[in-house]
Amino acid sequence: MKSIVIYFSRANENYAVGNISKGNTEVIAEYIAQFTGAKLFRCDPVVPYSSNYKECCKEAVAKQRSDARPELTAYLDDIDGYDAVYIGGPVYCGEYPQEIYSQLDRLSFAGKTVRPFVTHEGSGLARCVVALKAKCAGATVTDGLAVRGRNVYLEDSKNAVREWVQRLGR
Ligand SMILES: Cc1cc2nc3c(=O)[nH]c(=O)nc-3n(C[C@H](O)[C@H](O)[C@H](O)COP(=O)(O)O)c2cc1C
Repeated sequence: MKSIVIYFSRANENYAVGNISKGNTEVIAEYIAQFTGAKLFRCDPVVPYSSNYKECCKEAVAKQRSDARPELTAYLDDIDGYDAVYIGGPVYCGEYPQEIYSQLDRLSFAGKTVRPFVTHEGSGLARCVVALKAKCAGATVTDGLAVRGRNVYLEDSKNAVREWVQRLGR
C-alpha cells in the first residue's frame, strides 16, 4: 500500500514544552514515515504563525473564526498515486489548523483510506476525525491516533505510533 503523510506542524514557542526547533506533530509524522515508507508533505503557510505562543493562539482563533484558507508555500496537485493518506496536525481549539484545509480542499479523496492523527495537550482527537469525515468525501476514515505533544520523544509514544500503523495495515 502506498501512503503519504499530509501534516502541519509549528516550531518555536509551544504549549508545555517551551521553545522547540521541530514541531511535535512533525516528530510523529516522521515516525509514520519511518514505519511505513510514506512520503512526507508539510503544509507551510506563506505567512508563518508568530513564534510567540500567545500571539499564535490569537492568529489561530482569527483564522478559525473566518474559516480561512491560508495560502501555502507549496501544494500537492493530487494524491492519485497513494492508497492511504495520513492527515495530521496539532489540535488548535479542538480542530486541525486551517492550513490543513488549504490543502485538503484541492484534493479528491474518493476511494482513499484516510488515517487521522494529532498531537495535543489534553483534548485528544477533539473534533478532528469528525471534520475529516466531512472534508474527505468518498474516503474511508479510520480510527485516529492522538499523542500528547510533550510526550512525542518518549519511547511509549513511538510504540503507540508503531502499533497504530501496524493495526491499520501498512
Ligand atoms: C493556537 C493553539 C491552540 C491549541 N489548542 C489546543 C486544544 O484545543 N487542545 C489541546 O489539547 N491542545 C491545544 N494546543 C496545544 C497543541 O495542540 C500542542 O502543543 C501540539 O503538540 C502542537 O503541535 P506542533 O508542535 O506540531 O505544532 C494548542 C496550541 C496552539 C498553539
